[in-house]
Amino acid sequence: MYLGLDLGTSGLRALLMDADQQFVGAGEAACNVSHPHKGWSEQDPAGWIEACSLAVGALKASHPEELAAVRSIGLSGHMHGATLIDRNDKVLRPAMLWNDTRADLQAARFDRQTEFRALTGNIVFPGFTAPKVEWVRENEPEIFSRIAKILLPKDYLRLWLTGDHVSDMSDSAGTSWLDTGRRDWSGKLLDACHLTGDQMPRLIEGSEVGGGLRAALCSDWGIEGRVSVVGGGGDNAAAACGVGCVSGGQGFVSLGTSGVLLAARDSYAPDPETAVHTFCHAIPDTWYQMGVILSATDSLNWLAGITGQSAAILARELGPLSGPSDLRFLPYLSGERTPHNDSSIRGSFVGLDISHDRKTLTQAVMEGVTFALRDNLEALRATGADLSRLLAIGGGSQSRFWVETIATTLDLPIDLPASGEFGAAFGAARLALIGDTGADPASVLTPPEISQTIEPDRAYSASYEDAYRNYRALYPALKGTEK
Ligand code: XUL
Repeated sequence: MYLGLDLGTSGLRALLMDADQQFVGAGEAACNVSHPHKGWSEQDPAGWIEACSLAVGALKASHPEELAAVRSIGLSGHMHGATLIDRNDKVLRPAMLWNDTRADLQAARFDRQTEFRALTGNIVFPGFTAPKVEWVRENEPEIFSRIAKILLPKDYLRLWLTGDHVSDMSDSAGTSWLDTGRRDWSGKLLDACHLTGDQMPRLIEGSEVGGGLRAALCSDWGIEGRVSVVGGGGDNAAAACGVGCVSGGQGFVSLGTSGVLLAARDSYAPDPETAVHTFCHAIPDTWYQMGVILSATDSLNWLAGITGQSAAILARELGPLSGPSDLRFLPYLSGERTPHNDSSIRGSFVGLDISHDRKTLTQAVMEGVTFALRDNLEALRATGADLSRLLAIGGGSQSRFWVETIATTLDLPIDLPASGEFGAAFGAARLALIGDTGADPASVLTPPEISQTIEPDRAYSASYEDAYRNYRALYPALKGTEK
């Protein structure tokens, strides 16, 4: 048995998979995010451990024998978070998350130093780890002076699981401290951030064993033998492993809290002049590219919160595709990464009419997120990524209306995986299997069975194209109006 643990922004999923890659069972527990000030997004790392205990506890209750047979664990987690710990492994402040944009000035300053883009292959975005730690250096110097190690969120969970300070290449590529082509920490970049290599975890590949589960946890979870813990990956790399997206031409659209359009690449081909991200994949000698928007289902959840309905109910109110609404929504609730790299822009509804109802607002929100994803497709194509179809994953892909809107606006067929497991927790479990057995990644990381392909609806191609053009014109018009 293999256990995949995916630390998502809204909760942790623990998934059991057998040696034939069959799904056995899963447990889940929620995590909260706090936004104490505009642009801030934080979590208490203790909540991750609690969520992990609860999720694995649920698995122990439902599948005690299968849990007892676990041989290896793979980890996945939301990327870029800064978890600062002292020399006794004590957390120094709440973790600053991937969608925390308070460090925009620090990011812009680093980004102007040419070695950052040259070595990391990426713009230094405010949500990446380095600028957030620089913000701490400038605003909380006492805390900065006590930092013994900086860990990404899933690696803090690993510390609790194994007692080791270890990270993997795919997650570390989102820190702005990794030499992404060489897959190693860059002394030069650490130096520029007033940090040293000692403050970084040891690096391993995602499919490589990096330690073992602590004896106390083995006994809590009812496991007798030794359990290895592999590197795992940042959630997008792990999800790519889950759907077998590892070589050029393969790609997915993920509608999670963030929205991601990911393209696997056959080589390291960074384009740091664009806001496309180029990161190490979770298997050796492999890289991928993606466009990231900060509020995908987060936008729908926001609307659900203020209308007092669940996102599922809002989504169910929409029928089959009948052309775009006349209301535009810009999903920049937390600023935006790709393509604008703009942490100060904020979301908007443009064109509200007295006739508009809740349903129109929902449709506009889904369309706005879709248009942002189309921006990402254009950005990815400009870097040479070749995408002729996409898999749809993440909670938002449950909405047929949303997937039809995406297929038509991106003018790409969208494959829906047959029901089953293929997300980041499954990808993490697959990495554990590879680490444990030494299997060839290509033989394990295969694509899922497709239940249905949603083709672009040509009857509406022209009207969605017009609506997208209209959306494109709004960002420059709104730029400068932010408070
Ligand atoms: C990727 C990113 C998000 C997070 C949260 O760069 O910031 O996708 O990983 O899922």
